[in-house]
Amino acid sequence: MSQSPFAELPDANGYFGAFGGQHLPPELKQVMDDIDAAYEEIRHRDDFQQELASLLSDYVGRPSPIFHARRLSEKLGGAQIHLKREDLNHTGAHKINHCLGEALLAKFMGKTKVIAETGAGQHGVALATACALVGLPCEIHMGVTDIKKEHPNVTKMKILGATLVPVSRGAGTLKEAVDSAFEEYLKDPHNFIYAIGSVVGPHPFPKMVRDFQAIVGREAREQFQACHGRLPDHVVACVGGGSNAIGMFTAFLDDADVHLVGVEPAGEGLDTVRHSATLTLGKPGMLHGMACYVLEDAEGNPAPVHSIASGLDYPGVGPQHSYLKEQGRVDYIAMSDAQCLEAFMTLSRVEGIIPALESAHAVAWAMQEAARLPVSEHILVNLSGRGDKDADYVAEILGL
Ligand SMILES: Cc1ncc(COP(=O)(O)O)c(C=O)c1O
Repeated sequence: MSQSPFAELPDANGYFGAFGGQHLPPELKQVMDDIDAAYEEIRHRDDFQQELASLLSDYVGRPSPIFHARRLSEKLGGAQIHLKREDLNHTGAHKINHCLGEALLAKFMGKTKVIAETGAGQHGVALATACALVGLPCEIHMGVTDIKKEHPNVTKMKILGATLVPVSRGAGTLKEAVDSAFEEYLKDPHNFIYAIGSVVGPHPFPKMVRDFQAIVGREAREQFQACHGRLPDHVVACVGGGSNAIGMFTAFLDDADVHLVGVEPAGEGLDTVRHSATLTLGKPGMLHGMACYVLEDAEGNPAPVHSIASGLDYPGVGPQHSYLKEQGRVDYIAMSDAQCLEAFMTLSRVEGIIPALESAHAVAWAMQEAARLPVSEHILVNLSGRGDKDADYVAEILGL
């Protein structure tokens, strides 16, 4: 039997082809290796798998359903759009899937504090929730621009008992939050753990976060097959760091007939500097301890990127996505702020589902393509989160 080209990745050093690894000082490399060893130990233990599985069902509410967006599909007049409802999870997004895993790992390793960055606040809320559940102190670093934009999530993190660290340097968005969280982590990496919020950072995080998110695609593949007796023609997800997309894509990588699409933010246009389309316009480089595609400014520093969706404005991207782009297995395309807003409002008004601005990028691609494709084709969208956090911000922009 021929081996899938995507099986067994990353390799033992954390590489997906040329991407990934541990681009860190030697003492931190050892800390990451310890995290990897602990993760490999618990993931093979029945008690850990049982505890995680029961939390995912009784606490998160999994499996999340797939909803056939019939009215939206009819309105567009072409392919059928289906939504994997990660927005219905406890805390409102896919992030809780990996946060529970990371919090259980932190507890197992005897860590005394869990640190993380957040952009849209979804990872921050999910991690604060998971830490409350397992009884560990949690510290979230968030850019001041995002704090203003995503205020409902800031309040939730505080209620959940997390310490919020506002980050005012630079643009005050996701990259600066990662820098700040990493600095705090370096103060005591043996006792703290940096629970990274996506499939980014040094090995083993891209692997570990992917494994925790892979439940999304496993469920979706089975649900779609059971309901339609076939697989979807297209599977689409938004890409910031890439955790919801890789969680969905992993189950479909070996299904050559399933077209996989990752949607990046084109922001105010790919011909401006106000975008965050890392895979579309970036090049291979280094960021936050990993080799990956990076958007750089003229001096070779990470570019000050932009997206209307705080969870997508990151100048790097997960190493596995960088690899899948070069392999040609996934098409990465970009949708603008304006297309995202249109999808946000259309899904809300035609189906009664308010999506997160991040997820609305994937909906925007599905809407554009559904109108062009035949009625017999099926598009499965990973609706990674709900838009409660974005409602006031959108209302202000649109003057509602
Ligand atoms: C709802 C939602 N979807 C997607 C993302 C982007 O992250 P990722 O690319 O890791 O899924 C975020 C990040 O905050 C988010 O909140």
